[in-house]
Amino acid sequence: MTGIVIVGTQFGDEGKGRVVDFFASKSDLVIRFQGGNNAGHTVIVGEQEFKMHLLPSGVVQKKKSLIAAGVVIDPKVLLQEIEKITKTVGKPDLVIDPRAHIIMPYHIMLDEADELLRDNKIGTTKRGIGPCYAEKAYRSGIRVEDLVDETRLKKKLEEILPLKKKILENVYNYKNDLSVEKVFEEYAVLGEKLAPFVGDVSSIVNTALEEKKNVLFESAQGTFLDMDFGTYPFVTSSHPIAGAVCAGVGIGCSAVEKVVGIVKAYTTRVGSGILVSEIQGELADKIRAVGKEFGTTTGRPRRIGWLDLVLLRTAKRLNGLNEIIITKLDVLSGLEKVQVCTHYKLNGKKLEEVPALSSDLDKCKPVFKEFKGFEIKQNTKKYSDLPKNARNYLEFIEKELRVKISFVCIGAERKQVIKK
Ligand code: IMP
Repeated sequence: MTGIVIVGTQFGDEGKGRVVDFFASKSDLVIRFQGGNNAGHTVIVGEQEFKMHLLPSGVVQKKKSLIAAGVVIDPKVLLQEIEKITKTVGKPDLVIDPRAHIIMPYHIMLDEADELLRDNKIGTTKRGIGPCYAEKAYRSGIRVEDLVDETRLKKKLEEILPLKKKILENVYNYKNDLSVEKVFEEYAVLGEKLAPFVGDVSSIVNTALEEKKNVLFESAQGTFLDMDFGTYPFVTSSHPIAGAVCAGVGIGCSAVEKVVGIVKAYTTRVGSGILVSEIQGELADKIRAVGKEFGTTTGRPRRIGWLDLVLLRTAKRLNGLNEIIITKLDVLSGLEKVQVCTHYKLNGKKLEEVPALSSDLDKCKPVFKEFKGFEIKQNTKKYSDLPKNARNYLEFIEKELRVKISFVCIGAERKQVIKK
C-alpha cells in the first residue's frame, strides 16, 4: 500500500476512528487533512477507550501522525489531547503544518452567536469551525506559523481582534471580555508549547510517498457534510470527500492509490438537514441506545435512519471508492426486520443517486426493501460464520453499489473485524 484515503460515506460518525486504527497498524504515516475538533474519533483497545478530536487516530498505534494544512486547530484542545495520549500511550510522534489555521476564541463566540440568531439553524458543534474557515477564505486568519511567533501573533491580534469584538458586540449583541492583551498572553503560551511539533507536512508526506512508504489519510465527518456536495447549507465548512486530500495536505492527485469508504450498517445524522431514510419512535430509540449514537463531541443524540443506497451510490461517485468497510453490523442484531432504502421517488420518478438540486432532494421520498433480521455472535471470526440473513444483507449492498466489501465490523473492539 502507498497512499490510502479513508472517508466517511454518510454524515460522519461511521466509525472511521476504529478503521483507521486497524489500517494504521500497516501504515508508516497517518494524516488528518480537513476539519477540526468538530470531529470525534473513538478507538477501543481492550479496556481502554481513546476519544480524539484532533489528533490523527494513528497516535494510538504510535505511528507518525501529521496534521495537515487543511485542518483548523483549536490549540487548547490539541494540547489537552497531546497531554492525555502522552500519559496513556506515550509522547506522540506528531507534526503540525505551519499553514494550518488556528481557531481563536472569537471564532467559537461567533459560531455560537450566529447559530442563536439564525432562523434556519445548522446545528453546528459550536467549536468555531465555520468562522475559522470563513476567516481563512477572507485572508485574515491566524495560522500555526503566527501562533508560534510572538511578534507575528501580537501584530495579527492587533489587526484582527478589535474588529471581531465590534462585530460580536454591535451586530450580535454578544457580550465578551476579549482584549488583545488577554488573548495574546494566553495564546502565546499555547504557541510556545506547540512550537516543537511544527514542520512541513506537505514535504514530509511527499518524501514518504516517494520512498514508497505506507501513508494513510484520515478524513473527518462524512461525504454528505461536504461544503459543496453535501446537503448544503446543513454541512460542515470543509471537504470531507477524498478529493480534498490533495489540497489539504499539499500533494499531487497521483499520490492516492486507493479510497476506502466507511459505511455504517444504518444511517445517522447529528444536527439539522434532510435524512430521507429517517426512522422515528421506539425502533430509532432502540438503535440509538444499542449503537451508542450520541455525539462524541457534543453528546447530542443522533438521528437514525435505515441504510440509504442512494447516498452510498453518490458517495461512490464523489469519492471514487475502491472498496467499502461495513461498521456496526452488530447494532442491527436481534431486529426482526431490517430495511434498506434502495432508491428515492421524486414526482413519481425513480432516483438512484442524490439529485443536484437541494430543492429536489427536499421532496424525495424513500423506497425501502425489507430483509429478514439476524443475530450476530460477538465472537464470530469468519465471514462464512455470519448468519445467512446478515450475508444476504451485505451481499445486496455490494451488488447494488458494485463495490467490494473488504471488512465487516461486528463490535467496537480491534478483534471484532471480519475479513470478507
Ligand atoms: P460544524 O462542523 O461544527 O460547523 O457543524 C456543521 C454540521 O456538521 C452540523 O450538523 C454538525 O452536527 C455536523 N458535524 C460536524 N462534525 C461532525 C462529525 O464529526 N460527525 C457528525 N456530524 C458532524
